[in-house]
Amino acid sequence: MNVLQKLIRVTIDEGLMGAARRIAEYMAWRARLLARINLNEKFRVFIDRRFDRKYGVDTSGLIGVKGLDVTSEQKDSGIHYEPTPVPALRAILDSLPVDHSKFTFIDYGSGKGRVLLLASEYPYQRIIGVEFANSLHTIARANIARWNSRKQKCADIASVCMDARDFQLPDDPLVIFFFTPFLSPVIDRVVENIQESFRIKPRPIRIVYYGTNEKFMGLLSKLGFSRREIYSKRPFSALKHYKGHLFSSSQ
Ligand SMILES: C[S@@+](CC[C@H](N)C(=O)[O-])C[C@H]1O[C@@H](n2cnc3c(N)ncnc32)[C@H](O)[C@@H]1O
Repeated sequence: MNVLQKLIRVTIDEGLMGAARRIAEYMAWRARLLARINLNEKFRVFIDRRFDRKYGVDTSGLIGVKGLDVTSEQKDSGIHYEPTPVPALRAILDSLPVDHSKFTFIDYGSGKGRVLLLASEYPYQRIIGVEFANSLHTIARANIARWNSRKQKCADIASVCMDARDFQLPDDPLVIFFFTPFLSPVIDRVVENIQESFRIKPRPIRIVYYGTNEKFMGLLSKLGFSRREIYSKRPFSALKHYKGHLFSSSQ
């Protein structure tokens, strides 16, 4: 039964006043729902800003592609700067089924470095962020220098300023993080690089994709790794906004 049919049925059963009451109830329910969604977003921004204040770092805010200091060719396939929300990132890192101490962590399109900072609360061998905008890379370096978390377990954190296409992957076991940083043709090239690196040295590679871009996930699927959704161990999952997916090599 569609909405109009339901309305006609209610009007027949309860009269015009009954139908008007039902419409008013529906509108009030919808307004409450929208207010709650808005509140969730405000709460997310509040948590992210509180993270920056607590650690004296600058990782928040959105910066459009036009505002990035990169060449126009790069701008065509780049995505704006938007940091991964702190609760979602913590939920993802907590849920990874890996012995962090055996892996090197890479964030492709690392921006101001929030992911690098939070990843350092796990005992990775080392952590590398690849960012093509020099202004964001400079902020990331300052953030890394200021970062002072009691939970920090990895001190080897670096931001490198280069196009993701040119980044040569280390031949260590890898956890690779993507928050939809770029589109084709960059992602095609990056996937080829990962494939080639894995062909030369088969090893454990775990790729975390945070986002909802099906095309991006389709390209990652070309690697032939197993794929599954990441579920948070936390009682109130922070992974509501976007989903996290894990692609794993067979090693
Ligand atoms: C959505 S933001 C993600 C930031 C960070 N990874 C996080 O999750 O907090 C995408 C980032 O990718 C960077 N980016 C886009 N294209 C790039 C490319 N070809 N090479 C390196 N970085 C790139 C952008 O400048 C931006 O900082």
